[in-house]
Amino acid sequence: MTTSNGHASKSQQATQRRIEYHEADIVIVGAGILGCALAVALGRQGRSVLLLESSMKEPDRIVGELLQPGGVQALEQLGLLDCLDEIDAIQVKGYYVTFHHGRFVMKLREAALDCPNVTVVETTATALVTSSTNPSQVLGVECITNDLKDCYFAQLTVVADGYASKFRKTHHPYTPKRRSKFWGLEMIDAQLPSPYYGHVLLSDCPPVLMYQIGTHETRILIDIPDNLPAASVKNGGVKGYMKNTVLPSLPEATQPAFAAALEKGNLRSMPNSFLPPSTNKTPGMMILGDALNMRHPLTGGGMTVALNDVCVIRELLSPEVVPDLGNTTLVLKQLARFHWARKNSSSVINILAQALYSLFAADDVNLRALQRGCFRYFQIGAVDGPVGLLAGLIKQPLVLFSHFFTVAFLSIWVLFRDTPLTQLILFPFRSIMVFWTACVVIFPYIFAELRS
Ligand SMILES: Cc1cc2nc3c(=O)[nH]c(=O)nc-3n(C[C@H](O)[C@H](O)[C@H](O)COP(=O)(O)OP(=O)(O)OC[C@H]3O[C@@H](n4cnc5c(N)ncnc54)[C@H](O)[C@@H]3O)c2cc1C
Ligand SMILES: *[C@@H]1O[C@H](CO)[C@@H](O)[C@H](O)[C@H]1NC(C)=O
Repeated sequence: MTTSNGHASKSQQATQRRIEYHEADIVIVGAGILGCALAVALGRQGRSVLLLESSMKEPDRIVGELLQPGGVQALEQLGLLDCLDEIDAIQVKGYYVTFHHGRFVMKLREAALDCPNVTVVETTATALVTSSTNPSQVLGVECITNDLKDCYFAQLTVVADGYASKFRKTHHPYTPKRRSKFWGLEMIDAQLPSPYYGHVLLSDCPPVLMYQIGTHETRILIDIPDNLPAASVKNGGVKGYMKNTVLPSLPEATQPAFAAALEKGNLRSMPNSFLPPSTNKTPGMMILGDALNMRHPLTGGGMTVALNDVCVIRELLSPEVVPDLGNTTLVLKQLARFHWARKNSSSVINILAQALYSLFAADDVNLRALQRGCFRYFQIGAVDGPVGLLAGLIKQPLVLFSHFFTVAFLSIWVLFRDTPLTQLILFPFRSIMVFWTACVVIFPYIFAELRS
């Protein structure tokens, strides 16, 4: 940057305002995937950004370890592709990259720290600060830093505090719905049936995911629906389920590493939630990331949605379009646009994750019929479309819709083919039930996307 022109001094002043007066154009709560990427994107547009994070230590979590190509593409658009370097990321041959979540987050945080227009503060946000004259207008956040109360102010406050968001409750009309949890273990030097591919294991039990996250480490995520009988206390709980049901269902070569990981303990779990997005209507505030919208992590789409959202919001709130973020009316108008503009990519990922989970965790005959139709669809080579949707590369909800109903009709055909002659009289009834089940699987999630 040049020194003597107005720009440099303007940005120096902005830095001083952030540090001395805790005041910026934008304050972001949460330096996770979304918060960091947004801070960098807006900072590079010349906005003054305060990024608040309760712990700058490397996160150690069982989430966000697999980034779909759509997410890699978004990282590239944001100029953050180098955050995948030097974290021992594994280029999975299937179609995505996997890594240790914490290492990736630390890279994103470094990018934010490197940005001269961004100031990162280690502090815990506790409450929103609202205007005394207009209580619905958010002015900033109240924080606790080393046991001391503190406040940060901005024209726009971004809530990006993740799945258990503290601030969602009062400003988001929907609450997350949980059907299952993922239980995670780290296997050392595990033998996978196809090394460098992500694995989704389907059996009579709910789905199990396996993918390598480092040179020696392989993550295994085991989906356990709430109230699964095989994991009841009587049956030895989660550990009993893993030993008695999951272990024997794994590929033989993988079993020793899984048994060793189970022996070592350190089982961790995370809720698998569904939360439909909603338009941000609060003046001076926006909710983003997992705080705004969640889907089942089966397809590993959460970070891709978050990074795509940053790409969309960066355009809609760019200084050319919104010179002054204090122009509440214009910002709210742009946020209403954002709700619909993000749909092309996010709705595909959201609906697909929920629908696939229903099929893969099939617990009745009709769902199993759909599951067989889905496999048949892949077997006959219809893979590019579904994989493009899964990857976050095909951003067209109608394409998803047509694939889904092709699977439904294929399921009915497979059912017809497998129905013995003597039971053919029941076929019309059963085919209607399968079709009805397909509708029940997908329509609630489509409607959820159509709400404002
Ligand atoms: C089991 C599981 C597996 C998953 N696997 C994948 C996957 O493979 N691929 C994928 O793309 N997605 C995956 N996801 C989803 C993904 O983890 C999320 O979509 C993503 O992390 C969301 O980013 P975020 O920035 O909104 O939230 P987070 O990444 O959770 O970041 C929130 C940040 O806010 C901070 N914070 C919270 N409260 C406060 C506060 N009061 N004050 C200050 N800071 C605060 C937190 O410390 C944290 O750093 C998975 C989810 C689950 C549950
Ligand atoms: C920081 O913001 C200023 C405007 O205040 C802008 O001119 C400059 O390009 C920004 N710097 C970077 C590295 O993005």
